[in-house]
Amino acid sequence: MVQIVYLNGAFLPLEDARVPVLDRGFIFGDGVYEVIPVYSRHPFRLAEHLQRLQHSMEGIRLANPHSDAEWHELVRELVARNAGEDQYLYLHITRGVARRDHAFPPADTPPTVFMMSSPLTPAAQALREHGVSAITAPDNRWLRCDIKAISLLPNVLLRQLAVEAGAAETVMLREGFLSEGAASNIFVVKDGVLFAPPKDHLMLPGITYDVVLELAAAHGIPARVAPVAESTLRSADEIWLTSSTREVQAITRLDGNPVGTGEPGPLFRKMDQFYQDYKATVMRQPTI
Ligand code: PDD
Repeated sequence: MVQIVYLNGAFLPLEDARVPVLDRGFIFGDGVYEVIPVYSRHPFRLAEHLQRLQHSMEGIRLANPHSDAEWHELVRELVARNAGEDQYLYLHITRGVARRDHAFPPADTPPTVFMMSSPLTPAAQALREHGVSAITAPDNRWLRCDIKAISLLPNVLLRQLAVEAGAAETVMLREGFLSEGAASNIFVVKDGVLFAPPKDHLMLPGITYDVVLELAAAHGIPARVAPVAESTLRSADEIWLTSSTREVQAITRLDGNPVGTGEPGPLFRKMDQFYQDYKATVMRQPTI
């Protein structure tokens, strides 16, 4: 089945989707995006993703071209038009097409709206069993990491460092504290307590991050949202990464050293199960 995307009012095959080269997304990386998982054709936490999209759009001073009801309808149709029970949706809005000028284009310039669905595949069993490796690197991004901006050059360079080191993620440190992964949030477990950096301008407010903290609260896992020092990260019993496409994964090696026992820890095993159970309840709810 052909992959169907949405571009500026029309659904069409991916191969036929074209954006002018003067699009400000292409020229300046001037836009924002969202990634939304879909399980059994049920978008996961759609309201929260749309809320974060609104926050990102306000952060770059771009008017949201659609109401939530319109986004719901576009999402519903995109999911329906694509194959696969599990998908992940990519939503992308730029400041539109205009003569190259750093300042904003005329106010009546229509934004470019692009949406794509891709197959969402569950993590391999080996990865669940043994976890993944990560490296650390200085966080050299700007100070508005709470905006889900399409200008991802630092994240791309940071993730590439991981790939070249044979690792799955780069964990970033800023001034001695954990911020997040190149494309994920990071949790640390120490002495039975779950630690997470606070949602501020130094990290993306992850939707999966929120789910994990909600599940910890619901199941009586003690959690502390507070700045996480590099020393805490390096002496952690467990480290997890979370994202919409990777869910919760155990990081079992950091910079080549084992994390805790070097195998996914007991709290990870519990949280992974809570997360799968929670997903199953969402899938039983009526579709949007
Ligand atoms: N990235 N931090 C960064 C920098 C991210 O890019 C992501 C997700 C997250 C996790 O957020 P969430 O739980 O809402 O997915 C944290 C997506 C998946 C991506 O860029 O593909």
